Amino acid sequence: MGLPEPPDVGASALPAGTFDGDVVLVTGGGTGLGKAIASEFARLGASIAIASRKEEHLAAGRAAMDELGAACATVSCDIREADSIAAAFDAIEEQLGRPRVLVNNAAANFPVPAEDMSANAWRTVVDITLNGTFFCARELARRHIAAGTAASIVNVGASYAWTGGPGFAHSAAAKAGVKNMVETLAVEWGPYGIQVNGLVPGLMPHEDMTADIRSNLDRTHEKDSCQPAMRVGRTRELGWAATFLASPYARFVSGHTLVVDGANWQRRTLTNPTVVTVREQMGKGPFEGSGRG
Ligand code: HXC
Ligand code: NAP
Repeated sequence: MGLPEPPDVGASALPAGTFDGDVVLVTGGGTGLGKAIASEFARLGASIAIASRKEEHLAAGRAAMDELGAACATVSCDIREADSIAAAFDAIEEQLGRPRVLVNNAAANFPVPAEDMSANAWRTVVDITLNGTFFCARELARRHIAAGTAASIVNVGASYAWTGGPGFAHSAAAKAGVKNMVETLAVEWGPYGIQVNGLVPGLMPHEDMTADIRSNLDRTHEKDSCQPAMRVGRTRELGWAATFLASPYARFVSGHTLVVDGANWQRRTLTNPTVVTVREQMGKGPFEGSGRG
């Protein structure tokens, strides 16, 4: 049987208009889970700002917000660059006003055996996922601390922040940093009225998954029966959790990371399954040489 299906797309636990007058910035909000999160804020009255690198992703995000009738600003931004983030915030403030909510959703990831990973591959994922998340959070906080206004930050993480993630050493380490950062920043910025929480999706397939992540997913044949919930997550389930964390009904929730994964990350088995190396799981041959770069 497994966990029941959630309500249909368009339903909401929060009152209509919960985010009326609010600007919500979602990094990477033009694709996948970021778009789903942006959509739930839009349904509840928010104006939406979407920041990412690729024009086609920004256009897709804008089209989704247009369909929902939400005011929307899209800005080109590489979250590895603090100056690019500051410029994006300037542009958003000019078009919509200062974001009260920041969802740090943008991240980078691809499966690779750790021994094969180049220095640049490691740096790229850590730079986007960990450094980029911090730079965006800092930009929002600086502006609100200077203005004396309250704000809410939601950092999207991953459950291998706690467990480690074979085949994803770079992303797992970066997400562990993201989770830790939630706890630090919530304490540092609470006195200024800034809430900081984490939000962890479980397996939530969507049409925008990169080829690398999709190919990894394709290695699991029966997606639903591999989950304790007996089903994968629906992207709106993450969107609802994000809107709750940034809503007035969660004002005293800060420094918390909420996992929305049907208990998959706590999964253990009665007997130990056979160990299969990452190389074998990825269908890679034996490691050759010491590797460079
Ligand atoms: C090994 C790889 C690689 C791969 C890239 N690299 N893909 N190494 N296996 N599949 C290496 C490159 O060879 C290069 O190293 C370095 O990484 C940087 O690559 P670039 O293409 O120059 O980087 P860039 O253009 O900045 O693009 C970043 C990117 C790309 C991460 C590589 O995939 C991207 O833009 N991703 C954004 C979206 C994304 O990743 N979404 C997934 C989120 S899902 P060298 O040494 O050659 O220079 C997620 C799910 C978590 O996080 C849970 C899953 C279960
Ligand atoms: P996705 O569709 O690939 O989205 C990633 C987004 O990040 C893209 O919109 C991308 O836009 C943006 N981005 C990447 N690098 C950027 C950069 N340097 N600057 C600005 N934007 C950048 O992935 P997703 O599946 O929706 O994942 C969203 C979040 O959920 C991520 O934090 C991910 O780690 C987490 N997560 C997902 C799953 C899952 O099952 N899908 C599971 C666990 C955790 P551009 O390419 O336009 O820059």
